[in-house]
Amino acid sequence: MSARYQLSGTTAVEISAGIESGIRTGALSPGAALPPVRALAADLGVSPATVARAYQELRQRGLLVTAGRHGTRVRPRPPVAARRSALRPPPLPGARDLSRGEPDRRLLPPLGPHLAALAADTGPSVSYSDAGVLPELAEMARARLDADGVPAGELTITGGALDGIERLLGAHLRPGDAVAVEDPGWANLLDLVAALGLRPIGVPVDDEGPMVAGVAAALAAGARALVVTSRAQNPTGSAVSAERAEALRALLAGRRDLLLIEDDHAAELARVPLHPLAGATASWAFLRSVSKPFGPDLRLAVLVGDETTVARVAGRTRVGAGWVSTVLQRLVLALWSDPAVDELVRRAAQSYEQRRDGLLTALTEHGLRAHGRSGINVWLPVPDETSAVTALRDAGWAVAPGALYRIAAAPAVRVTVSSLHADDLAPLAAALAHAANPTPPPGFPT
Ligand SMILES: Cc1ncc(COP(=O)(O)O)c(C=O)c1O
Repeated sequence: MSARYQLSGTTAVEISAGIESGIRTGALSPGAALPPVRALAADLGVSPATVARAYQELRQRGLLVTAGRHGTRVRPRPPVAARRSALRPPPLPGARDLSRGEPDRRLLPPLGPHLAALAADTGPSVSYSDAGVLPELAEMARARLDADGVPAGELTITGGALDGIERLLGAHLRPGDAVAVEDPGWANLLDLVAALGLRPIGVPVDDEGPMVAGVAAALAAGARALVVTSRAQNPTGSAVSAERAEALRALLAGRRDLLLIEDDHAAELARVPLHPLAGATASWAFLRSVSKPFGPDLRLAVLVGDETTVARVAGRTRVGAGWVSTVLQRLVLALWSDPAVDELVRRAAQSYEQRRDGLLTALTEHGLRAHGRSGINVWLPVPDETSAVTALRDAGWAVAPGALYRIAAAPAVRVTVSSLHADDLAPLAAALAHAANPTPPPGFPT
C-alpha cells in the first residue's frame, strides 16, 4: 500500500468509502496491498468484523481482490474511474512497449474516406422510434457468419464484445452466481466478472481452447455461464480446434441451465478457421467484434443467439442506452462493403501471423516453448513474473505480467507482437530467454 495513504473511518461504510476514494484519486494504485484485517482494525480502534465487512463490500463490487496468503489488494483494473495513467505504469522512456495487447494502428484501415462519404450523404435522420439495427448491416453480418458456419439465430448489435458479454451476464445471472472463464484469460473479462459481483471459475486452456475436463469441472461446481474465446485467445493465442469443438459440444449438448457465450473478437484477422460451439446449449450467444480488424474505437459487435437470449439483450438495451448509433453502423457497413478494406485486413492478418511465428521460432532456437497459435500476443511461461518483467524492462522491453490474466494458471508474461519489426526478433528473443532462464547467482547452489 502507498505509505502516504492513511485509511480512516470507524464504520464499515466509512472505511470502504475511504478506500474507494483512495483508488479514485490514485493514492491507492492498482495492485496496492491493503493491511491485514486485524492490523487495520487495531489501527482504527474498531472490531475486525467492521474492517472485514468493508473489505467484503469492496470485494463484491470488484474493487478489491483477496488472494490467499498474498492478502487483500486493489484489483489491477478496479471499476471506479481513476486517472487512466494510474491503471498501468508507463514504460521507461525509450523502452519498446509490448504490453498493451493493441492492434498496430498503422495496419488498421483508414476511416477518413468512409467518414467523408458518410458526411456527404447523411441519409434520413434517425429518430427514437425508427432506430435499431440497420437491416442492411444485419444482412451483411449474417452472410459473414453463415460463411463461417455460425448457426442461424436472432441478431442484435452491442457496443463491442465486452458490452455484449456484460449485457448477457446481466440478463441471465445474479450476483454471487459462478461463471466459467478461461485461465489464463482476458483481464478485462475478469475485471467485469468481479464488477458484476459474479464468481469466476477458472478453466485451464491449451493451444486448442478450453480443456474439456476443466469445463466439466466448472459445470460440476455450478457454473451458470461459460465464456469461450473462439480464436486469438487473450493472452495465450489459443484457438478452438475442430476436435476440441466436437468434444465440448458433446459435453454441453442440450444443457438448459448454462449460458454459453463465444467471443470471436479476432474475426477477420484470425488466420485459423472458426469452429463454433454455438447452438450446443439452449441458451447461447456468439459475439463478433469489429475492434481488432477495423479499429477499437468503432465500439461495435454483432451478437447472434437463441431467441430468448437475444430478446433479453436487445430489450434491456432498448430501455437503457437505446441502440448503437446508426452512424457507427453505417460506417461499419461501408468498411465491410469496400474490397480495398478487405485487402488491408487480409494483409494485417498476414503481418501479425509473420511477427508471431517469427517470435515463436526465435524463442524455439533458445529452447523455449511459448504459445501463440493465432492473434497478436505470445504467452511465454517464466519461473518468476516479477523478475522476468524487471529483467525485460532493464533490457528496454515492456511486457505484461501474466498475473493480470491468471487465476490458478502458472506464471508467464504476455508479449504483444503487433508492432514488432523483423530486426526486433533476435534481440527480443534473447532478452526473453534471459528473463525466462535467469542466470543463477554465483556461488554454490543451495
Ligand atoms: C478476448 C477479447 N475479446 C474481445 C476484445 C475486444 O472487445 P471489444 O469489442 O469490446 O473492443 C478483446 C480486445 O482485446 C479481447 O482480447
